[in-house]
Amino acid sequence: MSPELRIEMPEARRETHLRSQGPAISVRGLSKSYGDNRVLDNLSFDLERGRVYVVMGPSGCGKSTLLRHLIAAEEPDAGEVQIDGVDIHSANRRQREDAKRKFGVLFQSAALLNGLTVAQNVALPIQRHTDLPQSTIDLMVRLKLELVGMGEAADKYPYEISGGMKKRAGLARAIALDPAIVFYDEPSAGLDPVMIGVIDKLIKDLTSKLGITSVVITHEMPSIFRIADEVLMLFGGKIVFRGTPSDLRTSNSPVVRQFLNGDPEGPINAPRQLAELSQRLIGDVGRGRTP
Ligand SMILES: Nc1ncnc2c1ncn2[C@@H]1O[C@H](COP(=O)(O)OP(=O)(O)OP(=O)(O)O)[C@@H](O)[C@H]1O
Ligand SMILES: [Mg+2]
Repeated sequence: MSPELRIEMPEARRETHLRSQGPAISVRGLSKSYGDNRVLDNLSFDLERGRVYVVMGPSGCGKSTLLRHLIAAEEPDAGEVQIDGVDIHSANRRQREDAKRKFGVLFQSAALLNGLTVAQNVALPIQRHTDLPQSTIDLMVRLKLELVGMGEAADKYPYEISGGMKKRAGLARAIALDPAIVFYDEPSAGLDPVMIGVIDKLIKDLTSKLGITSVVITHEMPSIFRIADEVLMLFGGKIVFRGTPSDLRTSNSPVVRQFLNGDPEGPINAPRQLAELSQRLIGDVGRGRTP
């Protein structure tokens, strides 16, 4: 493969992604409850092309639920999600499949198949969604592995590589079909700070070099400040904050402040409930009663 090809293909892709009109993702009135638990409460927002969006919020606030609705892995109670102008929840099967080809997903576990090599894992979505000849698929796979710095590991099996390499392989697979949008659910979970930096740089580079729109769920504060063009904070079923990382730093919102400072006390009450529980247990033990 010539070096020019490596450079020109992404550039062409970048132009294609950025030339399209309208927001990459448009959410209107999105609601979802599980029983009495209203996890997504009438959410509406647009995400523009070619930017990195971080979705953050306390554990259990609904980040993964939101992600599942954005990728049409789950049906909402109400509202719509448009990907590139197509409402993926009301679209017919064909339109939905077409829309799904526009995005890639890096799941938390990277979710590689252990019986296949890294290269075969990356080839899988291309084989599934296209009828391209194997030689073209091989070229695409090689390109994607080079992009994430995994060219050398193409023929290794997932159990032979480290957690960080698995994430990079998962990322190569997520971008196998040249998606316009990539969703990441906690891409840094379980990685050391240097590897988190490597993944962050990849997300940033892919976004700028390929014109991809990146939606990243993460708790990692250093990552948020490194990669985000905009941050959305989800809490109580609502987007309670949206702004740049520097807006985040100076926000007066008590929810944002508590989250950034890691305060156990504040409007995010799960830790408070825990504190109350431990207080009660200690109190009970102190009074000579077993809890
Ligand atoms: N399929 C389901 N059935 C019932 N409740 C669910 C289901 N999926 C999620 N929930 C609930 O919805 C809420 C949001 O869960 P979700 O996994 O989206 O949170 P999260 O923000 O991704 O949390 P974390 O940071 O821990 O990954 C939680 O209270 C969870 O128990
Ligand atoms: Mg989650």
